[in-house]
Amino acid sequence: MQVTVFGIGYVGLVQAAVLAEVGHDVVCVDVDQNKVDNLKNGIIPIYEPGLTLLVNSNFEAGRIIFTTDAAKGVKHGGIIFIAVGTPSDEDGSADLKYVLAVASSVAANMQSHKIIINKSTVPVGTADKVTAKITEVLKKNGKDVSFDVVSNPEFLKEGAAVNDCMRPDRIILGTTSERSEKKLRELYAPFNRNHDKIIIMDVRSAELTKYAANCMLATKISFMNEMANLAEKFGADIENVRKGIGSDPRIGYQFIYPGCGYGGSCFPKDVQALIRSATAVGYDAKVLQAVEAVNYRQKEKLFDYIMRHYNNDVKGKTIALWGLSFKPNTDDMREASSRVLMEKLWEQGAKVQAYDPEAMQETQRIYGSRPDLSLMGTKEASLNNASCLAICTEWQAFRAPDFDLIKRAISDDVIFDGRNLYEPSIVSEHGLQYYAIGRGMSV
Ligand code: UGA
Repeated sequence: MQVTVFGIGYVGLVQAAVLAEVGHDVVCVDVDQNKVDNLKNGIIPIYEPGLTLLVNSNFEAGRIIFTTDAAKGVKHGGIIFIAVGTPSDEDGSADLKYVLAVASSVAANMQSHKIIINKSTVPVGTADKVTAKITEVLKKNGKDVSFDVVSNPEFLKEGAAVNDCMRPDRIILGTTSERSEKKLRELYAPFNRNHDKIIIMDVRSAELTKYAANCMLATKISFMNEMANLAEKFGADIENVRKGIGSDPRIGYQFIYPGCGYGGSCFPKDVQALIRSATAVGYDAKVLQAVEAVNYRQKEKLFDYIMRHYNNDVKGKTIALWGLSFKPNTDDMREASSRVLMEKLWEQGAKVQAYDPEAMQETQRIYGSRPDLSLMGTKEASLNNASCLAICTEWQAFRAPDFDLIKRAISDDVIFDGRNLYEPSIVSEHGLQYYAIGRGMSV
């Protein structure tokens, strides 16, 4: 089938690549000439396992092309995905300017029936706005062409995006048009094997499903972080509590890991956006506000431990930091807990010596060169002449470190772990003090 994807970001590029991989004929349109040129030369703008090979092999096979030419894109696709960014406005609500710009451009160029799919995470009611925008532009141009706007939210996780897209748990289609349903069933048939994963619903429910899913997951995390903080106060161990409650299948083991807060481009933005959308319809979303407030506080947790340990004086100290990205297997630093920690340490006159397997370049891009940040080539090098070690991201490479080497390298024999990677008894056997989230030491 002929498909066009507007927006070559995370969602758009992965979606385009997997559609091409199963044999669809895909045109990707982006306003960023540089990005388009790079992709034509095999340079992929994001780090995502498996994506480079997938994009480049389909590009070579001619199943995916990259262009800045919107007219060409609209002409090509009977199915058009809108996968552009929806950044947060100053008040936290989602800014739809890019989505509506694509809608205008589609309307200005379309000559035949189109199915327009909202793939970006957009507030409830956006499909109606896209419909209104297309209708307005068609009318202005004196054109009478039919179209459908469908909500088809994406549920991929960074670091596992290709696999999530190839093997989705569900495919949500928000549409009441039988014609669109039929076409989209055909489009997604290669991803809809074993059992029917397609769930058809009205557009607004599909739009809300995306927010509800992310907000539920964020709620699980903030809830566990609250329990971890209580465990510290009560002298309990959150790891035991986690196993104890996870064994109830109604709760489950997934997404109940306490830590130094959730980050990334999705949870913080989506929780805030739903709070704002709720306010706009006169509803005070108290649970969501609490989820956000707990997460905000949790991102300061490691800093609080460090300040308590050093009696509020870290001036001139060097802190080794393992993990900069908001989670493992990505170089994404958006809303990463490491940023809160580094920025607060710098305010106090401390230095940071950091290592991350993928996010060093991104850190350099964000913070530039500054005397109180050194980016080190290995996790061991980051320990040299440091006072202590802090951990913000659970990369596999940090899970079984040489504790004796750590003890020899750092001067104050203490680890502050924001991801609960180690067994406290094992760390202390090596003569190191160990602060972890909700595990006793920090009472
Ligand atoms: C999230 C959702 O998991 C995806 O389903 C969704 O499609 C995506 O947002 C999106 O809307 O595009 P992602 O942001 O890539 O995916 O990252 P997650 O793996 O969900 O992790 C989010 C944050 O939660 C990370 O900072 C992670 O460290 C934290 N987390 C996760 C915890 O603190 N505890 C947990 O138990 C799990």
